[in-house]
Amino acid sequence: MTAYRGHLIHIGGAPRLPAVAGNLVNEPDGVIMVDDTGRITYSGAFDARPDTGDDVVDLRPAFLLPGFVDTHIHFPQTYCTDSYGGGQLLDWLSRCIFPAEAKLADPVYAQLMAREFCRRRLSVGTTTALVFGSAFPHAQDALFGESIRTGLRTISGRGIQTMGPPSAKPLLTDEATAISLVTEEIVRWHAADTGDPATALVHAAVVPRFALSVTAQTLHALGELYDSVRDRGVYFHTHLNENVDEVAEVRETYGVQTYLDTYDGKFGDGSAQAGKTLLGPRSVLAHAVHCTRDELARMADTETSIAHCPTSQLFLGSGVMPWQATVRSAVNVALGTDVSAGDEWLIPRVLNDCFKVHMSEPGDQRVALHPAELLFTATLAGARALALEDRIGNLDAGKEADFLVVDPHRQELLAETLAQIDEADRDALLFTLLMGMREEAITHVYVKGRRLT
Ligand code: GUN
Ligand code: ZN
Repeated sequence: MTAYRGHLIHIGGAPRLPAVAGNLVNEPDGVIMVDDTGRITYSGAFDARPDTGDDVVDLRPAFLLPGFVDTHIHFPQTYCTDSYGGGQLLDWLSRCIFPAEAKLADPVYAQLMAREFCRRRLSVGTTTALVFGSAFPHAQDALFGESIRTGLRTISGRGIQTMGPPSAKPLLTDEATAISLVTEEIVRWHAADTGDPATALVHAAVVPRFALSVTAQTLHALGELYDSVRDRGVYFHTHLNENVDEVAEVRETYGVQTYLDTYDGKFGDGSAQAGKTLLGPRSVLAHAVHCTRDELARMADTETSIAHCPTSQLFLGSGVMPWQATVRSAVNVALGTDVSAGDEWLIPRVLNDCFKVHMSEPGDQRVALHPAELLFTATLAGARALALEDRIGNLDAGKEADFLVVDPHRQELLAETLAQIDEADRDALLFTLLMGMREEAITHVYVKGRRLT
């Protein structure tokens, strides 16, 4: 058992978004006690801890925050942030991204990228990520292997493409090959580290790139496949309603009423039911900027979550996800960097954009997000989106100890800025910390009680 003493900040319990401010835990002289299995046995005031005579690692004046959860990031785009000359989504994909992702055909390059991807995640404190994978199985082997070696939590699946423009050609397979590669990936990597999804750090996902990169036949086959593995805790991940031209093209190509129908088994003409749904409590859809009320309601009903990616939406000019209408539908909204359309790896920088874009929404759609809502979106909502809320997302006793040590003295002017805030004003303190922190303030990263280097 080890005790870590510092300033604890997290969202305790399991609140829904409207209640998170009431669950904000701020314990200036706090401690978490972690047992040898990596589980938190006590979390709270240092003075009230059970005195077990164990080692105390005194991290004061650092903050202890839950590890960040990135619910949408592209591994094969590790070197693609701020790619020049792309334009909006569909042009950017064809001009910049498909050619860049094709380079992972080289196993040496893919291995190097996997190492740097994990290293970068570690430097920004992203302890858990839902990772959009490469088309190439050897690249996915490298990603999962590096993730296990590093000790990070990673959910991923190869990016499935059975159709696309000429520049996507190296990434395409026929449909039978796509299904067999995904099946093999699940067999090989789902819970590969422990053999049990309930304890594993790595999990597999079924990941069609988006509706425009597959066909109705592929969606049908993926529906059958997903139906056969969802009970084993396999995930589903893709993009939805990111860009207006994309939405129009999906509706025209499939003849569907809404984009979501393509993932809901209703990809037949006029949204006729033509296969099994891919939605559910382990399904995460990135963006959801241009959703209808019915789409939001259907996601909420099926417990499908949204990976909200405001930094990416700024870069690609995709628009702003209407915050209030989205959360009012009761759909769970978590956060994603969407590297590389999002050009920022550090989750608090994405929160910073999140705050600004919703503060800039028109008229009465405008909202000033509460700092507890920001922290929730970056941690517990992510754990919920990934059906891992019983294991991670906050620093409650009983959870696995995924946490960050954040030392404001390591960042120029951060400690001095925080020192100006009245100690009793915990909302102001958390807001300034989340909006202002940079990665140099993150000094240690722990997953399941293990310090990762
Ligand atoms: N839609 C389909 N592929 C992609 C991608 O790689 N990035 C983003 N942002 N949207 C997509
Ligand atoms: Zn994306």
